[in-house]
This record gives sequence, structure tokens and C-alpha cells, in this order.
Amino acid sequence: MSQSGRTFLTTPIYYASGEPHIGHAYTTILTDVLARFARQSGEDVLFLTGTDEHGPKIQQEAEQRGVTPQELCDTMAERFGSAWERLGISHDRFIRTTEGEHKAVVTAFLERLWDRGEVYRGAYTGWYCIHEERYWTEKDLGPDETCPDCGRPVTHLEETNYFFRMSAYQDALVAHIEENPDWIVPDIRRNEILGFLRQPLSDLSISRPKSRVSWGIDLPFDSDHVAYVWVDALINYLTASGAIDPSSPPEERGFEDVSGSWWPADMHVIGKDILTTHSVYWPTLLMGVGLPLPRRILAHGWWVVGDTKMSKSLGNVIDPMALTAEFGSDAVRWYLLREMPTGGDASYTPERFLTRYDELANVLGNLASRATSMIVKYRDGRVPSVGGTGLADEIATTLESIRGDLDQLKVHAALGAAMDLARSANVYVEERAPWSQSKDPAQAEELDETLATLARALTVLCALFQPVTPNAMHELAGRLGLDGVPTIAHSTSVVLGGRSVAKGDPLFPKIEPSWATTDGT
Ligand code: MSP
Repeated sequence: MSQSGRTFLTTPIYYASGEPHIGHAYTTILTDVLARFARQSGEDVLFLTGTDEHGPKIQQEAEQRGVTPQELCDTMAERFGSAWERLGISHDRFIRTTEGEHKAVVTAFLERLWDRGEVYRGAYTGWYCIHEERYWTEKDLGPDETCPDCGRPVTHLEETNYFFRMSAYQDALVAHIEENPDWIVPDIRRNEILGFLRQPLSDLSISRPKSRVSWGIDLPFDSDHVAYVWVDALINYLTASGAIDPSSPPEERGFEDVSGSWWPADMHVIGKDILTTHSVYWPTLLMGVGLPLPRRILAHGWWVVGDTKMSKSLGNVIDPMALTAEFGSDAVRWYLLREMPTGGDASYTPERFLTRYDELANVLGNLASRATSMIVKYRDGRVPSVGGTGLADEIATTLESIRGDLDQLKVHAALGAAMDLARSANVYVEERAPWSQSKDPAQAEELDETLATLARALTVLCALFQPVTPNAMHELAGRLGLDGVPTIAHSTSVVLGGRSVAKGDPLFPKIEPSWATTDGT
């Protein structure tokens, strides 16, 4: 993925005010799958996720629950952490914005902006939506003074704020986007930002008076104000990269030279709702302190339910943990990543979930079960030591197309190609009819070749599916007598002849969904 052999991937940090839902799960699993593919190709990976813990939204939620903001954040960080564990997320670092190290990096960042003359004090008059944590001008508002994004009532504000001279970086940002066509993926999002940048860019308010918002990081140049939660949150990526050493004197903190750290990030994976903050605020702030920009931003689409937006008030939020409890994390991971075209939108329906689960069970699971059973039955559980090249062309073509899909960040297509290989292997079984070959001693060599080919196909599939269904592939590797899931590159050449194969329970067992009994679907 990167040229240095090191890849730094990030998810957004999730607000510590609500429960993890299917949208958060999707972003995190998408990043996890990219991280696992990168590790499988030999990259050293830093995969970062975490929680966004400051600002009025957290302050208000804590008040409503009758706990302190810190108590709320401790509870929710734990909830996100355990959700990610149950979903098999392989992050290397879980950052919390209330950590001392992060606070110190935010302070150093703001100090640097201040010292470089990038910040001025001014008056702010306008509207604010706490739910979205963002400002609106009068003309943006929906009917009856509501937020145009979420429809909730907005608050009128008149206060002193500190502003970052974001407008000064408009031309540099437009030039960067135009010179780097792959910087924002997909194109539709890149065009959206270029369209937005056709209007003059305003300066960015980066502070809140403590009289209104006390739950935040103090500004180093005015302790009556705290940092705007988005500025605080975006800096998490830099904190985790280890580029900045806030305890050193200002000129030695690492702003001049990030070598040896993970900065710049190779990719920020986000939802399309937070594109402006990541592709306008964040890069201009980085320009303001003189740091390199992240290498790529992948903005994925939106999960809706049927054709309705998911929302707490409609009571239609899909709980990824309930699905996981019923079907296992591999099934949820597969469904979410296979069903949503990376970058596009998708709709959750229970029917599609079951169709995707059946695909796992009937194509991949069935292949694994047939192939291992036949090796056990016809060859006493030993993989025959012969070529096993029956599907070599299909394997080569699949690996090639998966490489192309991943380069273009089309994860759904890469997974689709892997499933097609399993389909081809099932067709191969039908064509070779090993059950007939086994009855005719004259076809012993053909049967050896059939079984060795199937062992090879399963080994390659084990590597290809590992990023998305890691539990089942770990199990499959064991049944194939491998010493763990091979890398994709190694899967075509690892010696299989003589390995001892075991059969076992279905990798993806038949499950009667709990909802079938209530609404008949
Ligand atoms: N805290 C900010 C992000 C700060 S990053 C420096 C935030 N948090 S959030 O909890 O609201 O999470 C937003 C992210 O969750 C979205 O960008 C997206 O990745 C994911 N999703 C939330 N709902 C979603 C859907 N319905 N569908 C797909 N993903 C969505 O914003």
C-alpha cells in the first residue's frame, strides 16, 4: 500500500455520547479489512481508532444521565472497545481525547498556530447545532431555525472566539486536490469538495468560551476558552502518530521533521458526513503548522434501513452487536463489506443479510466441507503430493483482479472476486466428480490431482478471506494442517503435499434467525 513498507490507517474517533451502531461498525470493519490486507502483504501497520470525548454534546449527555463527563467517557470508551473486540477489530491503538498525551499535543499544536500568527481573536455571531457540533449561518438554516443536516433546533450565539486564518489556505488546498486526483476517494466526494471550495473559504472558529462549554482542552493563550471539539478531535491522528513531542522546547517538538514517526497518515477512512472537516479544516490546519497532509481520504457512503435514515427517534437503529451475537462477527463483517459498494450507499434489510450469509455458508463453507471430507475419506486425511494445478489460471486471474480492486479501494469487488473463486472451485468439484474417480482405481492419479487442487484453492481462499472472516479462516487453516493463515503471496506456493487434513463442523452453520418467528421474513 505504501512505498515505505509502513501503513498508518485511521477511523474517525466516535463520540462518546452514543452506543456503537452499524454505521460506526462499518467504518471500523472497513478500516480493519484494509489493515489486515496491508499486514498480509507484509506492511508494518498502525491501525488507529478511538473515542471523541470533549465538547458540549458530551457535556449535555453526561448532565442528562446524572454523571460527570469523565464518567460518561470512561463508560463509553469501554463500550466501543468491547464492541470492537467482539467484531474482531485488530486496531493497534485506541486513543481517547481525554488522555494526557493527546491534551499535550493539542496544546502544542495550538501554541504553534498562535506563534506563527495563524490565530486572531474576534466576535462570532451565528447559529450552532450541538448534535452536529457545527456552525450554521442564517441562510443555511432549515424551517423554524433548525439544523439543515439533522433537523434539530439550533442555538443562536454571540460570543468571542479565536479564529484560524483558514481562508489564507484556500488556493493551496484547491491546488493540492487538483494535483492529487486520488487524494479524496471516491470522485463524487472530491468533486463535492472542489465545488464547496469555489465559494470563498471563511476563517475557522477554533475556540469556545468556558462560560458556555467547559468540557474541553484549555487554549494555551487564553485559559477562559477551550479548543473547538473538532480541532481537538482531528489532532488525535497526529497524537497517535508519535510525531510531536510536546515536552520538548517549541523548536524541537517535531513540527519541522516528522521522519521516524507514523505521520503523515496513509489513509483517513471516514463517512461522507464528515468530509468537510477532514478535507478542508484538517489539511488547512496542518498547513498552518507546517506539517505534511494525510496521503488519502476515503469517504464511504451511508447505511440506511430499507429506504429510511437510521435514527434513535425512529427506533430503527440496527445494532451490530445483536447481529453478532446471533450470527457471529464473521457474518456481520462479510455482510457489511460485501453489501456496500465502497464509497457508495447501501440499505440494510434482514433479507439481504440472510442472502449474504447463505453465500458464505453455501459457497465457501460448502466448498471447505466437501474438500476436507473427501481428503479425509479418500486419502486418509493426507493431501496428495502432486501438482494440484487444476485451478491455477482461475487463482492467478483472481489474485490479479483483487490487487487491482484493492488499489482502487473497491473492497466489495475484491471480496466478490474471492467468492467467485470459491464458486469456480465448486464447479471444478462437480466437473471432476471425485466420488466417481474414487470408484475407479485407474483414475487414482486424477483423484490425487482433484484433491490436491482443492487443497490449493482452499489455501488461497483462506488467505483471501482472512481479512474479512478471520475467525473462520483461522479455523480453516487448522483443518488444512497449515501453521496459521498464510499470506496471499505465500498461499500459492506453501507446500501442501503430505499435510494432514481434518474435517469439522460447518464453518458457517445453518442458523434460524430470531426474527423469522416474529414477522415471518
Ligand atoms: N466524533 C466525530 C468524528 C471525529 S474524527 C476526528 C464523529 N463521530 S460519530 O460518532 O458521529 O461517528 C461518525 C462516523 O460514523 C461517520 O463518519 C461514519 O464513519 C460512521 N457512521 C455513522 N452513521 C453512519 C451510517 N448510518 N452509515 C455509515 N456510516 C455512518 O462524527
